[in-house]
Amino acid sequence: MNNQSRDAEYTMGRSESETDRLIEQSQLYDNVTRRFLLRSGISNGMKVLDVGSGAGDVALTLAEFVGSDGTVVGVDVNAEILETAKARADAAGYTNIEFIAGDTRTLELPSDFDAVVGRLVLMYMADPGDALKHLAIHLRPGGIAAFQEVDFSPYSVAVHPDTPLINDLIKWGRTAFERSGAHVEMGMELYKAFVDAGLPEPSLHFEAPMGGPEDWPGFEYLANSFRSILPLIEAYEIATAEEVDVDTLASRIQAEVAASKRPIMLPPHITAHATLPS
Ligand SMILES: C[S@@+](CC[C@H](N)C(=O)[O-])C[C@H]1O[C@@H](n2cnc3c(N)ncnc32)[C@H](O)[C@@H]1O
Repeated sequence: MNNQSRDAEYTMGRSESETDRLIEQSQLYDNVTRRFLLRSGISNGMKVLDVGSGAGDVALTLAEFVGSDGTVVGVDVNAEILETAKARADAAGYTNIEFIAGDTRTLELPSDFDAVVGRLVLMYMADPGDALKHLAIHLRPGGIAAFQEVDFSPYSVAVHPDTPLINDLIKWGRTAFERSGAHVEMGMELYKAFVDAGLPEPSLHFEAPMGGPEDWPGFEYLANSFRSILPLIEAYEIATAEEVDVDTLASRIQAEVAASKRPIMLPPHITAHATLPS
């Protein structure tokens, strides 16, 4: 694994529109995450730690899985985004979710969690295996470690002569994440991170939502993702704002999909889960 001396800069930036984009992303990957939590064994009555909660989507889904007899503790280094997470949990009527601001690797937390879960968070940490080792300290014997992370490498199958815009987006997006220090192949690196952390070998799955129809919400989501990373794309001189042209991006991707009849794939996610010995 490509471990680094420092954490990645948060590639997508910090803004209200980025918070909205995270919520939009959660809707597109909702089924992927629900299937992952189900096969990981998250169930009624559990006490679960959600690592890197962001706007709270995984914590809200976990609260549904554990029911009113269970509890969810969500942690994020970004105290501001947790205000959104708290407001959403309150609006949904959950009284069993607590959000704590801080770095999950160093926060003082109990060591009796039934599960430690995270989505799109290890990719930003300098040494994901070492981070997992610290996170596993919070698990009881027989507890579950379950992580869902992005992997850009399978995107190479989507590159095609008939899709020049999509080809550029794949190249620009991957390069921006790489340059910011994020682990762009975190999905494939999950196996090593689990083993390096001293966890049992994980069960792994791979999934990527794909879209084609004109009304698919993924087109807008992709444009909003490029809105969030545009400052880095420009700063690293990967492409210019004119080349990306975020305001027309959704319709241009949709037009290319319609003309080429090649569906576009959202960033693939790989999930890994393992259960500690009792
Ligand atoms: C891409 S967002 C994902 C949010 C959420 N898990 C989801 O899938 O919707 C990653 C989040 O991880 C948080 N994060 C990154 N490193 C962290 C750390 N060491 N401890 C706690 N949170 C962290 C970031 O602040 C950000 O809110």
